[in-house]
Amino acid sequence: MENNISSESITSDLGTSFIGQRVIYYPSLTSTMEMAKREGIAGAAGGTVIIADEQTAGRGRIKRAWLSPKGSISLSVILYPKAVCLPFFIMLASLAVFRTIEKVTGLKPEIKWPNDVLIGSKKVCGILIESDVRKDKVNYAVIGIGLNVNLRLADFPDISLIATSLSDELGEEVSRLEILRCLLVELEKLYLALPLSEHIFEEWRDRLVTLGKSIQVKSGNITHRGVAESVNQDGSLLLRKPDASLITIIAGDIATLRE
Ligand code: BTN
Repeated sequence: MENNISSESITSDLGTSFIGQRVIYYPSLTSTMEMAKREGIAGAAGGTVIIADEQTAGRGRIKRAWLSPKGSISLSVILYPKAVCLPFFIMLASLAVFRTIEKVTGLKPEIKWPNDVLIGSKKVCGILIESDVRKDKVNYAVIGIGLNVNLRLADFPDISLIATSLSDELGEEVSRLEILRCLLVELEKLYLALPLSEHIFEEWRDRLVTLGKSIQVKSGNITHRGVAESVNQDGSLLLRKPDASLITIIAGDIATLRE
């Protein structure tokens, strides 16, 4: 399958009004987040996409590294939302990926709180949101998406037990271009619904595989255990602890303890 991409092949007849109307493509880059941040500070048009075939210093959440070899999709979208819209970014980004995987491949993804996309309990996509907010004004926000499209996880033994790719799941290569174009369209549809976003919250909540599970959450230096009971409209997680108290987790890294 032809899997080369270019700015023109992404933007041409995309059908969006701003997301993906300008695409800056790099064969190789340290991190699309770095470049997007630079472009955001310089005032690049809202919806500008930075995309790289591979990243040499891809960044994950909680200061982790993110592996982005050729065959994956690594992109960052620059946006200038109102501050009230920012909490919805984790929801809209994971939902856009979820919808894209379902539409293009027919696979059945799941969302692990807050915004990992899994297939069969293995991570297929990671999302990183970064923003610069001062006095309630968003100077820029960047949605970074790393999606394992055509990767043989057997070639990456360090992560092969916890990660998967669309091609490994399907048993054949997938068009990165089709995935990308669908993803940008879905992102824009969801973004344009903000901040009136009850349905975004509900769709995200209903796709969370985490709810009802016994989990362990690492939030900063503290580890909490309990049952993931529900989520709030701002994306935070409500955890029922063994002593029956209910705590709110705003950000963290979770592991499922048992089904
Ligand atoms: C995670 O830890 O799950 C988030 C991973 C986010 C990776 C993407 S790939 C595109 C963008 N550029 C980066 O350096 N990171 C994000």
